[in-house]
Amino acid sequence: MQNLEPYRPAYHYTPLRNFMNDPNGLVYYKGEFHLFHQYNPFGNSWGHMSWNHAVSRDLIHWEYLGVALKEEDGVMIFSGSVVVDENNASGFGTKRNPPMVAIYTGHLVADEMQSQCLAVSLDKGRTWTKYAQNPVIGWEKDFRDPKVFWHAPTQKWVMVVAKAADKRLRFYGSSDLKQWTLLSEFGGAGVPDDQKTNWECPDLFPLPIEGEEGAQKWALHAGMGGGHISGGSGGEYFIGEFDGVAFHSDNPSDTVLWADYGKDNYAAVSWSGVTGKSGEAYWLGWMSNWRYANDLPTTPFRNALTLPRLLSLRRFEEGLRLIQRPAPQLKKLRGAKRRYSARTITSEKPFTPQGESWGEALEIVAEFELESAKEFGLLVREGEEERTLIGYNTEARQLFVDRTRSGRSDFSSSFAGRHFGAMRTNGNRVSLHLFVDRSSVEVFGNDGETVITELIFPKPDSQGLSVYAEGGSVRLISMTVWRLQTAFAPIAGG
Ligand code: FRU
Repeated sequence: MQNLEPYRPAYHYTPLRNFMNDPNGLVYYKGEFHLFHQYNPFGNSWGHMSWNHAVSRDLIHWEYLGVALKEEDGVMIFSGSVVVDENNASGFGTKRNPPMVAIYTGHLVADEMQSQCLAVSLDKGRTWTKYAQNPVIGWEKDFRDPKVFWHAPTQKWVMVVAKAADKRLRFYGSSDLKQWTLLSEFGGAGVPDDQKTNWECPDLFPLPIEGEEGAQKWALHAGMGGGHISGGSGGEYFIGEFDGVAFHSDNPSDTVLWADYGKDNYAAVSWSGVTGKSGEAYWLGWMSNWRYANDLPTTPFRNALTLPRLLSLRRFEEGLRLIQRPAPQLKKLRGAKRRYSARTITSEKPFTPQGESWGEALEIVAEFELESAKEFGLLVREGEEERTLIGYNTEARQLFVDRTRSGRSDFSSSFAGRHFGAMRTNGNRVSLHLFVDRSSVEVFGNDGETVITELIFPKPDSQGLSVYAEGGSVRLISMTVWRLQTAFAPIAGG
């Protein structure tokens, strides 16, 4: 049986058909993780932006619920968030049946003016009604992507929203979600404004500090439409305090912190209404890049989301840094497992586990001890002429993904390449935790310290796996490989 959708991920979210971008309106309510996303109901490239909707009880299996908010009267539905108004302060529902309120950007097609608008659901997100008095803020140019959360210490709703082209974020406050007061602005920090970039899809949330009981700090994250370290779109973040009015960054204004060093994680946002056991935020991003999002070689759908991740902070000498780990729910995907014990790998003697057919969907945990090798790591989705490298450069102290020869890349001149991020060694050790799918790899280095998310388009039968070293030796302390189950059934034919 021929798989007609060779690049349809086995366990990452994709719409059944058509173009998608940013995740929107992530909210947990009554046992369901809601996921909305930017969507073109009419085609496989960007346009007619609407919110498509899916729900999941386990963050792995998604039930498609169709278009929730559609383009109407020349106004597209751009990115935004959803909250549950538990006290019915908006008056849209009742105390017994609190409203779910979507706060989205209305984008006027005619003149590209943007405003913040509301829509309401009283039936667990199944149907939505736009607020008759929209917009609630606006209209302005380049003014979009409201993320709203409840700020308990000051008992109000807070919105962070981007003045995109100015690379500034605004904070507004409200008691009823309808009337908003400007609180403050944040900007002039991170990647210099003079680069060809902007800020979009901001998010602000508190995170626990690992190993410091009860301690937390706020993380402010913003998507940049261009100028990411790996090229094109990606996200930068700041750590600091939010006092209910303004965000105060702990970092010198020229510090640039990347959430993900890969080229394919954009517009990540967190789930409202749910945290991990220690208060970690759940989030995921759009697994693509505006450089080629409209050109990926997939049909009838285009683009996917990253895996859901748990966020916390870890203290290093230079300050607190964002830590991302795969959501614990993903363990449910694990199938058959192989474990390999310690061995030495050299450039003459790579390690290729024999007799295995790995399939296209894998999770791998490997721990290495540095010896003389200049570079070492894993080769995944290996075929006769292609492979993806997930490696560590011991001189530069960098984790990298190299997709120079990972498969198809003819659709964009900015796709192939090696993308890397700084990563320390722990003692003399480095750990890699990675997820391989039909068209992506996600690497969590040193238990979430450095993350790289990248698309790849290998042949379906490129299923080899090996461990390599260059310029000396490395000790593989241990490696565990799981085959992962399919959560999305591919559409088969032939
Ligand atoms: C980010 C973005 C948002 C906007 C949406 C439109 O990828 O440009 O700023 O709301 O996409 O689809």
